[in-house]
Amino acid sequence: MQLPNKLRLVPSQIVTLTVLLTLLLFIPQILLNWQVYDNFNSITKYEFKLQRLSDEITYLDEVLTMSARMNAATGKLIWEERYRQFEPKLDIAIKESIKLAPKVYENEDAKKIDAANQRLVAMEYQSFELVKKNQKETAQLLLFNHEYENQKQIYADGVAKRKRNISLQLQQKINDYYKRIFWAILESIISLLMLIPAWLLVLRLLQQYLKAKKIAQAALEETNYRLEMQVTERTAKLKHKNIELQHTLQDLQNAQVQLIQTEKMSSLGQLVAGVAHEINNPVNFIYGNVIHIKEYSQHLLTLINLYQQENFNHNPEITSLINKIDLEFIIDDMPKVLSSMAVGTERIREIVLTLRNFSRLDEAEMKPVDIHEGIDSSLLILQYRLKEKHKQQEIAIIKDYGDLPLVECYAGGLNQVFMNILTNAIDALYEWETECLKGKVKKDLSSIIIHTQVKNKECVIISIKDNGPGMTEEVKTRLFDPFFTTKPVGKGTGLGLSISYQIIVDKHNGKIKCISSPVKGTEFVIEIPIKQVQ
Ligand SMILES: Nc1ncnc2c1ncn2[C@@H]1O[C@H](COP(=O)(O)OP(=O)(O)OP(=O)(O)O)[C@@H](O)[C@H]1O
Ligand SMILES: [Mg+2]
Repeated sequence: MQLPNKLRLVPSQIVTLTVLLTLLLFIPQILLNWQVYDNFNSITKYEFKLQRLSDEITYLDEVLTMSARMNAATGKLIWEERYRQFEPKLDIAIKESIKLAPKVYENEDAKKIDAANQRLVAMEYQSFELVKKNQKETAQLLLFNHEYENQKQIYADGVAKRKRNISLQLQQKINDYYKRIFWAILESIISLLMLIPAWLLVLRLLQQYLKAKKIAQAALEETNYRLEMQVTERTAKLKHKNIELQHTLQDLQNAQVQLIQTEKMSSLGQLVAGVAHEINNPVNFIYGNVIHIKEYSQHLLTLINLYQQENFNHNPEITSLINKIDLEFIIDDMPKVLSSMAVGTERIREIVLTLRNFSRLDEAEMKPVDIHEGIDSSLLILQYRLKEKHKQQEIAIIKDYGDLPLVECYAGGLNQVFMNILTNAIDALYEWETECLKGKVKKDLSSIIIHTQVKNKECVIISIKDNGPGMTEEVKTRLFDPFFTTKPVGKGTGLGLSISYQIIVDKHNGKIKCISSPVKGTEFVIEIPIKQVQ
């Protein structure tokens, strides 16, 4: 978001101008202040010191005069010593003063003071000499006479004048200092008077700028928020559409699976039913007639027996035929052959019945069914795969059937499930055997244990367990996915378990789970309600 032109350009120029003005006004002020500070420094450093030294010189001078006079008056040496003690101090103070204000000590007055001083010192030294020679009175006369007083006066006047000069100089400097302070303050006030409106203007512009920025920010945030809302809304819609699409895809896939499997199983069922039907009629002829043949042959054998008793043996032709055909053996073996034929046809009839039971094409509705019969018929169809074949050992089927009630179900559908699970177990066992042979590992006898039991009064459990290779975690998680297969192309479609899942869970409200881990075999556990709740 752009700010208005006025606010974007003007404040920056005004701020620059104000800063420049501030600098322009404050730099001279700083200079002024520096001078004031310098002035103050010089006053404290030189002038005050000079005044202090001047006072010290006057005092020391008085001390020396008094010491000299006391020496003359008392004649005591102690006063001369005192004089000598203070004399260097006076010298030092004078030297310091000259150093601080050389000009003051160069003019005519200074020369006069110096001359008076020298004269006084000379008279005082002379007085000390006189005292040492015990001429106290002469010494007193010397230090209290007119000449001494006169020189003293000259000296005192000169010193006083110098002191005044120093004071004047100090005063002048202090005045100067006040003046500078005044100008510095004045300049500060003027600067402030000029800068306050400028800075107030800057402040106002800044406020305006901040306000405009705030408004722009708020507008930006609102636009952002609106955009975000739109994005969220659209994402939600997209997500929804995506979920719908996924469901449609899932439905489509399920329908496809259903179609393929139904087609597959109905073809198998029709084939089995067709074969069973076709075999059923001729087998029934044989089965129905075997009893008659048995009866007829019995009659015929009785007849032959009777003939034999009537001495047909004398006929050489009959005798040779009896020997040739080994009548005795025929008489003995025929009932056995016929009995085994009867057993065979009986067995064929049973198989045909089982096959018809497996396909159950006639049963589209739920009916109470013997689950064991369904498992058995599936096993019967798979019989040829269980037998020992070249290089492949037989697969042992261990049936551990419980006492199950009739279970209300779609018999054909359930048989499909048993068929799929058993086929998978057989495939896995053969594959495992091949693997073991390759790796020259000894393998246990291949077996499938089928266990059934009543779980509670509501449902039954059917477990089909093989001692094959088992599955990895990854295979296990995708097991019931349509089209998931680990078998080579053309061998597996990956539909067996997904359709089994649909039959058990969707059609029968049951449960199916797989317990498996690598090398430890696989167990499928199915739970089906005994009675379907509408
Ligand atoms: N008893 C088992 N032991 C080891 N793996 C198994 C067993 N049963 C199923 N599987 C694994 O599960 C996969 C899926 O099985 P599913 O019956 O759904 O498909 P498929 O047997 O590969 O093909 P289809 O049954 O359609 O011919 C198999 O490819 C196999 O990897
Ligand atoms: Mg399968």
